[in-house]
Amino acid sequence: MKVYVSRDSAAKAVGADRVAAAIRAEAARQGLEIELVRTGSRGMVWLEPLVEIDRGEGRMAFGPVAPEDAAALLAGTLEGHGPTGEIPFFARQTRLTFARCGVIDPLDLEAYAAHGGLAGLRRALGMSPEAIVEEVKTSGLRGRGGAGFPTGIKWDTVRKAEAAQKYIVCNADEGDSGTFADRMIMEGDPFTLIEGMVIAGLGVGATKGYVYLRSEYPDAIEVMRAAVDLGRRKGVLGGDVLGSGRTFDMEIRVGAGAYVCGEETSLLNSLEGKRGVVRAKPPLPALQGFLGRPTVVNNVISLATVPVIFEKGAQHYADFGLGRSRGTVTLQIAGNVKRGGLFETAFGLPLGEIVEDIGGGTASGRPIKAVQIGGPLGAYFPPSKFDTPFGYEEFDGRGGLVGHAGITVFDDATDMLAMARFAMEFCAVESCGKCTPCRIGAVRGVETIDRIAAGDPDAMPLLAELCDTMTDGSLCALGGLTPYPVMSAVRDFPDDFARHKEAAE
Ligand code: NAI
Ligand code: SF4
Repeated sequence: MKVYVSRDSAAKAVGADRVAAAIRAEAARQGLEIELVRTGSRGMVWLEPLVEIDRGEGRMAFGPVAPEDAAALLAGTLEGHGPTGEIPFFARQTRLTFARCGVIDPLDLEAYAAHGGLAGLRRALGMSPEAIVEEVKTSGLRGRGGAGFPTGIKWDTVRKAEAAQKYIVCNADEGDSGTFADRMIMEGDPFTLIEGMVIAGLGVGATKGYVYLRSEYPDAIEVMRAAVDLGRRKGVLGGDVLGSGRTFDMEIRVGAGAYVCGEETSLLNSLEGKRGVVRAKPPLPALQGFLGRPTVVNNVISLATVPVIFEKGAQHYADFGLGRSRGTVTLQIAGNVKRGGLFETAFGLPLGEIVEDIGGGTASGRPIKAVQIGGPLGAYFPPSKFDTPFGYEEFDGRGGLVGHAGITVFDDATDMLAMARFAMEFCAVESCGKCTPCRIGAVRGVETIDRIAAGDPDAMPLLAELCDTMTDGSLCALGGLTPYPVMSAVRDFPDDFARHKEAAE
C-alpha cells in the first residue's frame, strides 16, 4: 500500500507532519507494510492535511485528516473523497505547469523523469539558441510575475546582446498577499524550475543562474537547495548538462524580506549585495542586469512553465487560452473563500465562475462584496464585474490587472474605505524611498483617506489628484499601481466612502 502525504508548508501548518508520523506509527503497530511518500501539494488547501492511499486501484483522497484518524484510514473505514483526480476542484483543471506537483516526491529525480521531467531539456539540447527562443515566442508565454511581457521577446533581447557572461535570474520574491504559486511549485516540483532555468540558459547563452528566494519561505529554500545539490550530483546542472558538454550552474540566494525586492531592478541590487532600491530603466536588465551583464529576470512560474512547452511543443501550449493570453494561468484562490487553493486552468474563465463556483463563495457564508486580483496593487472588483474573463487585456479593459494571478475574496462585512487606506499604508511601509510620489504620496494618501473618513468634503478630489500623481510620477509599480486598489474602491464602492461622511455629519 502506498500512502501520500504533502510536505508543502501549507499542509504542514495544519498538521501534515503529525499525520504522517501517526500513519507510520499505526502501520508499525498493525505490522502493515506501507510506503509513505511525502509529496508536494495537490493545491486543495481546504482539504489539508490531505492523505492519498493507493491500494492498487489508483490514488484515493482523504482529508482533512487528523492524527487520530490513522487507524481508520489504514483499515479502510475512514470516509474519503474517492479518486483524487475526480474531485471537481481538481478534475476541472488543466495542469501543465503543475502537472507533477502533489504527485511525486519533489526530491526524487527518477520520479521526475518518469513523469515527463527532463524531456523538454533533452529536446532543447538538440536545438540552436535561435530555435529555443523561437519556441518560447510561439508558445505565447508571457511573464507570470505580473507585467505579462512576452517571455520569448525578453529572451531574444538577451540572446542578441553581446557579452562574455550572461545570467538567468529567477524572481522568487513572491511578496503579494494571497499568492503562493511560486512557493508551491518550488516546494512541490523544484526540478521543473531548475529545468526551465537551464533551458533559458541554453536559449540566451547564459551559464549561470540565481534564484532570489524570500527568507519567509524556509521550506522552499530547503527544497530548492537540496534539489540544486542533487541536480549537480546527477548531471542536470554543472559542466556537462545531461552529458551534452554544455554548462549551466545555479545558486539559491535568500532575500531579507522587502516587498520592493520583487521589483526586478531592486532585486538585482539586492543580489549584488547592495541596498534593495529600484534602478531607473533604461537600461533594461536584459541588456545591463546582474553585475551590469545581460540578464533574463523571470518569475518562478514563467520559468517553471518552460519545460512543458518544450516537452509537449509550443503549439500545444499556445492552443490553450484566450486572445493574447495563451496557455494556462495558475490561479491562487485565497481570502474569505470556502475552497481556497491553486487552480491551474486555461486563460479565459470568468472571474465569477472562479470565485463562486470553483471557490464555492465565501467561507463566512455571507455574500461576496469584492475580489482583489493581482495582490496588494490590484484593483477590487465588485460582483458587477464578475463576467470579466481571466486574461491580461480583458482585466486591463475593466480597470484591473492579472498580476501574479492571486485572487483574494472579501465578504459584505468589509469596509472598502479601510481597504483603500490599507493600500496606501502598505505602500508607505514598503516604499524604497527613491521617488517622491511614492515615498511622500503614500503617507499623504493615508492622511487624505483619514480626512475622507472624518467627512472633509475637500479630501476626495485631493485623493484623486494624488493618485494621478503617483500613477504618472512613480518610478516603479509599487507607487505607480497603488492607486489601482485605492481608486477602484472609491469608484466601485462609493457607499463605503459616503457612509463615513454621513457618520461624520
Ligand atoms: P515592465 O512593464 O516595466 O516590464 C516588464 C518586463 O519586461 C521587465 O522584466 C522588463 O525588464 C522587460 N522588458 C521590457 N521591455 C523589454 C525589451 N524590449 N526587451 C527585453 N525585456 C523587456 O514591468 P515591471 O515594472 O517589471 O513590473 C510591473 C508589473 O509587476 C506590474 O504589472 C505588476 O502586476 C507586477 N507586480 C508583481 C508583483 C509580484 O509580487 N509578483 C509585485 C508588484 C508588481
Ligand atoms: Fe521606490 Fe516607491 Fe519610487 Fe518604486 S515607486 S522607486 S518603491 S519610491
